[in-house]
Amino acid sequence: MTSFTSSHTAVARRASDVEERVAELLARMNLDQKIGQMTQPERMNVTPDEVKRYHIGSVLSGGGSCPGDNRPADWVAMNDAYWAASMEEDEGHLAIPILYGVDAIHGNANVLGATVFPHNIGLGAAGDPELIERIGRVTAREVLATGVDWTFAPTLAVARDVRWGRTYESYSEDPGVVSRYAGRIVRGLQGGGGSGGVEGGSEGRLDAEIGHGAGLPALGPEGVVACAKHWVGDGGTRDGVDQGNAVMDEEELRRVHIAPYVSALEAGALTVMVSLSSWNGEKCHAHRYLIQDVLKGEMGFRGFVVSDWNGVDPLAEDYGEAVAMAVNAGIDMVMVPETWKAFIAALRERVERGDVPVERIDDAVGRILRVKFACGLFERGRPWGRRGANGSSFGSQAHREVAREAVRKSLVLLKNEGGVLPLDKGGRILVTGRGADDRGRLCGGFTVEWQGVVGNDRIEGGTSVWEGIKAVVPGAVLGGVGGVGEGQSVGGPQDMGEEEGDFDAAVVVIGERPYAEGLGDIREAGPVRPGTNQLPAGPGVLEPYGDTLQLAVLHPGDLRTIRVLRERGIPVVVVLVSGRPLVVDDELAASAAFVAAWLPGSEGGGVADVLFGDYDFEGRLPMGWPGGWGRVLFPRGFGLHLLGSEV
Ligand code: BGC
Repeated sequence: MTSFTSSHTAVARRASDVEERVAELLARMNLDQKIGQMTQPERMNVTPDEVKRYHIGSVLSGGGSCPGDNRPADWVAMNDAYWAASMEEDEGHLAIPILYGVDAIHGNANVLGATVFPHNIGLGAAGDPELIERIGRVTAREVLATGVDWTFAPTLAVARDVRWGRTYESYSEDPGVVSRYAGRIVRGLQGGGGSGGVEGGSEGRLDAEIGHGAGLPALGPEGVVACAKHWVGDGGTRDGVDQGNAVMDEEELRRVHIAPYVSALEAGALTVMVSLSSWNGEKCHAHRYLIQDVLKGEMGFRGFVVSDWNGVDPLAEDYGEAVAMAVNAGIDMVMVPETWKAFIAALRERVERGDVPVERIDDAVGRILRVKFACGLFERGRPWGRRGANGSSFGSQAHREVAREAVRKSLVLLKNEGGVLPLDKGGRILVTGRGADDRGRLCGGFTVEWQGVVGNDRIEGGTSVWEGIKAVVPGAVLGGVGGVGEGQSVGGPQDMGEEEGDFDAAVVVIGERPYAEGLGDIREAGPVRPGTNQLPAGPGVLEPYGDTLQLAVLHPGDLRTIRVLRERGIPVVVVLVSGRPLVVDDELAASAAFVAAWLPGSEGGGVADVLFGDYDFEGRLPMGWPGGWGRVLFPRGFGLHLLGSEV
């Protein structure tokens, strides 16, 4: 037998093996055990004991929800306890390993000391699918280090309105770019073979055999289960309102928003998360046509579909009816962070009343078990004993090098007047602005906390922009980091007791503070929808980020800092840290050079690599850049090299 034939046979045997094991296990399960598998509480609200008692199939961490001191060892210990409970077999309970899910959306960034990659918008600017796959592999390793097997990533949103608070989770406004990345990130995360080497954009191809037909692909030994989200149209809502309504015909929905899922499924994505948004007024969580007919039917998806945070609740006034709608629409696992006991009771009642067919339950549980078998969960053993658990590669230098490369490649040079860049490492350089020495700001949302953090304390390891510059420029000076007019001083030369002429240039790091989801929306004030992730308490926090994209209005101190320095004759190099393009006409005009840095993550040193000319700029805008008065200032794809030509 040739090696091709034998490996081919092995794959085929594995696929049918999985189906046999699913059928055999399913046949032994009673209704409570099945419903338990479909239930996903949040870790704060469920004990290992309850996992066993209620036959829970999955537990998740909401953004910022962490065990113990939030070290990998704490996570392994927690998962070990859940796993052990799920694997106790006796007359009332079957041993089915728990699948734990986290939002490792730019590295395993919930955990202290993780390597934090640029958010997706920066990776879109980098335009390097091979890099994306490597990032997926590193992320998977850092997830496995915590005893976790499932990440709610990648986000395949195609953000069409930068006012959306989740714009930074989108690689691009261009479905072709998102499609080119989708398969590579899934392959990187899952570490398996996918279904057959699909390269390039698959825009518009829904007729293809998605590779789920012959059974699900197995995970690589260093892979975690990926979750393509949010199905579908999350980036296309009207006015960019988070969880809003995507108003468009089916042709556009398929061409723009569904297209990336074709690549993700071809690469073998094992799970899909439903969007909290609506399509033409109908909630995706109740959309039988989109989930059951298009995703599972037409596209042949054989993994399982998970709902988003409390996504079932708003479907109907009567909770039981809402549950029935979601499950009948094709949702297999339900994310019910707090009210999971009510969910279990409601689903049971609806099955007994005949509102939810038993066949639908069997299909849902069969899919969940199929993923658990396909990803080797039954064979992985207890988290403490797993290869890589609490491993030393977590946050390692080698991992951080990959992130730093991503930072370098993601920076987009928008202006370089008189060739002020590259800066001279031998020069006197003032580094200032609110973001200058702030790794939290560089990381943005979904880092340690759901809404992210400000400052350096909780981002362990890595470098701020200042720390990166300091390492290579002996004559660099950190100015006060405040912005004028926001209760802090400008931090300019006067603070340092320097003569203004002493500085050859100033690097001013400005932009947005961290945010996540609807709290990052730009729209009229008013409460953010309550369905979202753990909402921090306190007045005002449920408001959107602001009501304008204009940075000079959102953070006026940034512009004042630039102007003060410029008036002193110091050429200003602006580094804009933001989750999206902002209207920065005034800041651009007042600066000599301007760099869009997006949300680069923990490795701010990558900014120094490029500002001081060790590497050239390679990034190109992943979405059009707005100017004032609704005009487009820079088109998608724009970006300058150091020597002035376009990238
Ligand atoms: C978000 C999802 C996330 C989930 C779990 C939700 O609020 O919309 O993207 O995966 O929370 O944290």
